[in-house]
Amino acid sequence: MNGNISQKLYRWLQDRYRIEEILELAEKKYVPVHRHSVWYYFGGITLFLFIIQVITGILLLLYYKGSEDLAFESIQFIMSKVQFGWLVRSTHSWSANLMILAAFVHMFSVYFTRAYRPPRELTWLSGMFLLFLALGFGFSGYLLPWNTLAFFATIVGTDIVGQVPVVGRPLLEFLRGGENVTGATLSRFFGFHVAILPGIFTVLLVLHLFFVQRQGMSEPLEAEGKQGSAVKRMPFFPNFLLRDLLLWLIVLNLLAILAVFFPWELGQKADPFASAPAGIRPEWYFLFMFQTLKVLPAKIGFLDGELLGIVAFGLAGVLWTIVPFWDRESKKGQKGRFITYIGLFAVLYIILLTIMGYIAE
Ligand code: HEM
Repeated sequence: MNGNISQKLYRWLQDRYRIEEILELAEKKYVPVHRHSVWYYFGGITLFLFIIQVITGILLLLYYKGSEDLAFESIQFIMSKVQFGWLVRSTHSWSANLMILAAFVHMFSVYFTRAYRPPRELTWLSGMFLLFLALGFGFSGYLLPWNTLAFFATIVGTDIVGQVPVVGRPLLEFLRGGENVTGATLSRFFGFHVAILPGIFTVLLVLHLFFVQRQGMSEPLEAEGKQGSAVKRMPFFPNFLLRDLLLWLIVLNLLAILAVFFPWELGQKADPFASAPAGIRPEWYFLFMFQTLKVLPAKIGFLDGELLGIVAFGLAGVLWTIVPFWDRESKKGQKGRFITYIGLFAVLYIILLTIMGYIAE
């Protein structure tokens, strides 16, 4: 009886939407198998953590209030009165950090395997914009509990934005909703965090996944163009998907352990009239830039040290974003050493300066 109904439903849908073609598409999708295959999983992990963010974020929205008077108290309420509210908040905060970490790992693995080379330039570009947006999610979300640390870190962060030549000042006022960080900033960050960023992120993510789906997974440079079966392949459905799901389950467990045993702190409510406490620093993923600006001398030659640092980071970011267009060797199917060295330098630099940022007072 049940089988009959589902068969009828299947036929009904098939007549109208030819769903068989979609299933055929899934059957034709393959994933290359080689010694760097493990890196193929990190895009999926990032995707999984983004889904967690959407679900826990919507749950938080049921109680959160984005105003100067009520933001902190509403989070207190979520953590103490709402059933499992503490778990949802802690999961949202941990998952945000893991998502950014997974996105970085995904980006560097794509970089080192040169998966950005033609024809995947747009996959890389859309990915870079997704990463910038993910950092924007982190920056805007950090302020939402309206606690002391976040309040002062937002002043410092937006101050740095204000130093950018030409566009800095208008950008600072746009972000703050005025000269200073106030309740107006909180309202704005709330809007960015729950409406503007999710909207743009979702469109870009759909594009990113569409590109991946249309072009299939890249093969390692070493094997490309070789005749015969140089690269082994595994069906995406169900072989790769099941592996994906297994990993997602492991990540979910990790997330649960972190959220339960290391619950996210709330701290003290922000007092805009108090002086800044010592040791204000941004979240770890901004720390390497923050620390660099801190250790640069006030003057380098006749130029302002901090300004020079900001311009250098901007230029490096642009060059990194357009790497598929200037890395000629990978276009010719070669793995150039220069690109590898730049990548290694970037990874080491980020790790070293982040550690220095944590040790520094
Ligand atoms: C931030 C959210 C992101 C999500 C949710 C995401 C998701 C995915 C997924 C599911 C895949 C297919 C599996 C894989 O290759 O791992 C993929 C592939 C890819 N992603 Fe991302 N990604 C994100 C960010 C990025 C970033 C920051 C970059 C680099 C700038 C990037 C560049 C690529 C490229 C080039 C591929 C194709 C890889 C290949 O064909 O071997 N993505 N992405």
